[in-house]
Amino acid sequence: RKKVVVFISGGGSNMLALAKAAGEPGFPAEIVAVIADKADAGGLAKAAALGIPTHAFLRKNFDSKDAHEAAILAELDRLSPDIICLAGYMRLLSATFIQRHEGRIINIHPSLLPLFPGLHTHQRAIDAGMKVAGCTVHFVTEGMDEGPIVAQAVVPVVDGDTADALAARVLTVEHRTYPMALRLLAEGKVRMEGGRVVTRDVEPSPASS
Ligand code: GAR
Repeated sequence: RKKVVVFISGGGSNMLALAKAAGEPGFPAEIVAVIADKADAGGLAKAAALGIPTHAFLRKNFDSKDAHEAAILAELDRLSPDIICLAGYMRLLSATFIQRHEGRIINIHPSLLPLFPGLHTHQRAIDAGMKVAGCTVHFVTEGMDEGPIVAQAVVPVVDGDTADALAARVLTVEHRTYPMALRLLAEGKVRMEGGRVVTRDVEPSPASS
């Protein structure tokens, strides 16, 4: 089974979805550690409750962004994961980090990329008058919320939607889409090559479920 490290900054519901999937018989990956950049990330307690080793690297304990990241990279060297899943990790990785783990890092973003990268994505989708929204799992490259797309799922935007209501609706499909994308990567059915996604034996993805 492929070794996965999950990075979180917050509640960790996507991390939990990944851990739950990884606990199913036959799932091709296991979560070997959770790394957070916040001591109070709710996901840390949830991971610990599942017996997953956790590591918190607080930015304030390091002199610089580089030193903070170097410590995380050193921990990753010890863990030697096959795959790194960013799951609500609200910090940009440096080019050095991304190059070191090129093709091994995936992220989930709560919009239909390339629309609405960055923050306040749900409010921006509502303000744009979108009738659908969704989530995207993509390989991490140097641009924020860029990188070749592995999987997406769609939800409706409804009349009178608020950012919070839409975020909750999108989150429910995130919890299905992220484990599905991780499975594809762990099975070698999806990989990044020359900045593009190459697939093998992949069923056409349902646009929404
Ligand atoms: C999720 O909606 C995830 O897509 C988003 O943060 C939330 C984390 O929730 N990520 C980003 O906005 C990254 N740009 P969780 O901690 O409960 O998984």
